[in-house]
Amino acid sequence: MDKSLRRPVIAGNWKMNKTPAETKAIIEEMKPLVANADCDVVICAPYIDLYAAMEAAEGSNIKIGAENCHWAVSGAFTGEISAEMLKAAGVPYVIIGHSERRQYFGETDETVRDRTRAALNAGLKVILCVGEVLEERNIGITAEVVRKQTKVALSGVSKDELANIIIAYEPVWAIGTGLTASPEQANEVCAIIRALIAELYGKDAADRFVIQYGGSMNDANADALLAQYDVDGGLIGGASLVAEKFAKIVEAASK
Ligand code: 13P
Repeated sequence: MDKSLRRPVIAGNWKMNKTPAETKAIIEEMKPLVANADCDVVICAPYIDLYAAMEAAEGSNIKIGAENCHWAVSGAFTGEISAEMLKAAGVPYVIIGHSERRQYFGETDETVRDRTRAALNAGLKVILCVGEVLEERNIGITAEVVRKQTKVALSGVSKDELANIIIAYEPVWAIGTGLTASPEQANEVCAIIRALIAELYGKDAADRFVIQYGGSMNDANADALLAQYDVDGGLIGGASLVAEKFAKIVEAASK
């Protein structure tokens, strides 16, 4: 088994933060700091910031993503954005199934599956989020929860399409709380996900499949988390809002 089969991906998830002007400023600040990265670098921003982000990132190694997309191509869905629209706008990545969408906006495993399908159909790269809440961890069903979320989201995804998906394991209790999963806890669940990918698509696909950890990852703990065998990158919330902190995580992934 060889971890070098997988190129790490460090992605920022800005959530509901930053105006277009702030977007331009921080991407300009990040560009020189991450220019020598030996990993993929993605910034996922609010829809309103995507053009500013792409314009500022042009010619650099920073790729831009959205934080969600709808499952339909178009139609009467007030306030929503389709995967086709993102593709047409030139946005390459999209986060799907973030726990905040599941917690606050009624996202289910089935809607996550449908949004994933739409994103793949449009030719986007998907960062698919899974993770257990604290009660589920406490009663010992983390593996079941994460396996079910992953299995439902990937139902109907072919082996070829899998190349356009990465999974972010984000334990909900570690998001925005400062409570990071220990490197061993993060690795344990990322390994469970990799084993499921092997079950569904074969060992070869699993060995190449990128699995990120997310949840209070920062410049101080990134080294230890990223050193784990099954952790191939990070999905970064708070620390991605500060250029130097984000760049330090990118540096840690480039070692
Ligand atoms: P924090 O890094 O702020 O805990 O957020 C993690 C996250 O939800 C990334 O999607």
